[in-house]
Amino acid sequence: MKIFLTGGAGFIGSNFVRYLLSETGVRQVINYDKLTYAGNLENLKDVEGDPRYRFVCGDICDRAALDEALPPETDLLINFAAESHVDRSIESAAEFIETNVLGVQALLDLSRRKGVRRFVQISTDEVMGSIEGDRYFNETSPLEPNSPYAASKAAAEMLVRAARMTFGLETVVVRSGNCYGPYQFPEKLIPLMISNTIKNVPLPVYGDGLQERDWVFVGDYARALWAVAMKGRAGAVYCIGARTQRTNLEVVRAVLAGLGRPESLIRYVQDRPGHDRRYALDPTRLEQELGWRPAESFASGLKRTIEWYRSNPSWIEKVTSGAYRDYYQRMYGRREGYR
Ligand code: NAD
Ligand code: TYD
Repeated sequence: MKIFLTGGAGFIGSNFVRYLLSETGVRQVINYDKLTYAGNLENLKDVEGDPRYRFVCGDICDRAALDEALPPETDLLINFAAESHVDRSIESAAEFIETNVLGVQALLDLSRRKGVRRFVQISTDEVMGSIEGDRYFNETSPLEPNSPYAASKAAAEMLVRAARMTFGLETVVVRSGNCYGPYQFPEKLIPLMISNTIKNVPLPVYGDGLQERDWVFVGDYARALWAVAMKGRAGAVYCIGARTQRTNLEVVRAVLAGLGRPESLIRYVQDRPGHDRRYALDPTRLEQELGWRPAESFASGLKRTIEWYRSNPSWIEKVTSGAYRDYYQRMYGRREGYR
């Protein structure tokens, strides 16, 4: 099976590459990634020499580079590539529209032209906005995005739908809750809190810290995604959630407890504008149709995550250093990559 991934050098993508190579019988995996601040080949050092794996440095908005990199009759294209951080989208939305919207259209056009057999779009629960009380999102919930990031991902879903309805491209969409685990860039809640705790610097909690997120460990996510990619119904949406909602304060306190540090490190800071209060997903479709169940509880997944960050302080230093990024961009260029 020939698989083409975009954004595979980021957090979820790099974990998924490792899963593909170790747990499935895939023959060829191409990882096409622009290496933005969030993409790091350091995340994939251990698979670099695997003959089934090839990295190509490129932008999904660059149609000529994509055309060159995408082999004809690819069995499966999974689009992880995105600008993914809500706070950055509030600062400036331009790159979110370019990659998350225009880039997705470029991928869809090319997939159609080059005979990609199945196109999987990685989406997010955030396209459905905030859900109050004790209700849950499912695959039929309306799209009501509230941040520029969420709006760009909702737009992408609409373009994927149009490619299916108008041109018959075989597509599947996954919407997940918040993912966590090793190799997540330390700007998102869990890795930032772990990194700050290790460095003994304050932990910024937005607003009252009582916002809820639905957490899924990245290893469980990888299994769910593979099940959807292989056996999910064409045209369907699947919600990936582990029935694990926690308030941000609960998460931050669990990180502090896991590292044996006091709660006095918590600093309440100004809230995020338009901050979604609650995400909660009903994963019944995934469970019933594809038999998926998470292997990690939040406690066990967080323990594994903390252990990984504690054992890899140099990874945090490297990926947050501008010099390191410049090195990879100089080394591999934006288009050519190494093969
Ligand atoms: P990430 O920010 O860690 O990685 C994104 C990757 O995409 C990076 O390797 C980056 O270099 C690459 N990229 C960005 N722009 C590109 C472009 N124009 N061309 C090619 N590559 C480009 O993100 P992540 O957390 O791994 O998320 C992966 C996907 O999952 C995204 O689509 C995101 O919207 C979605 N998602 C993430 C979460 C989460 O909790 N992390 C939850 C739901 C959905
Ligand atoms: P984040 O990891 O940015 O993911 P998302 O916004 O996509 O859910 O944030 C998770 C939650 O944590 C969100 O409610 C915002 C909050 N948060 C903080 O309170 N402090 C922080 O420093 C960060 C990065 C997030």
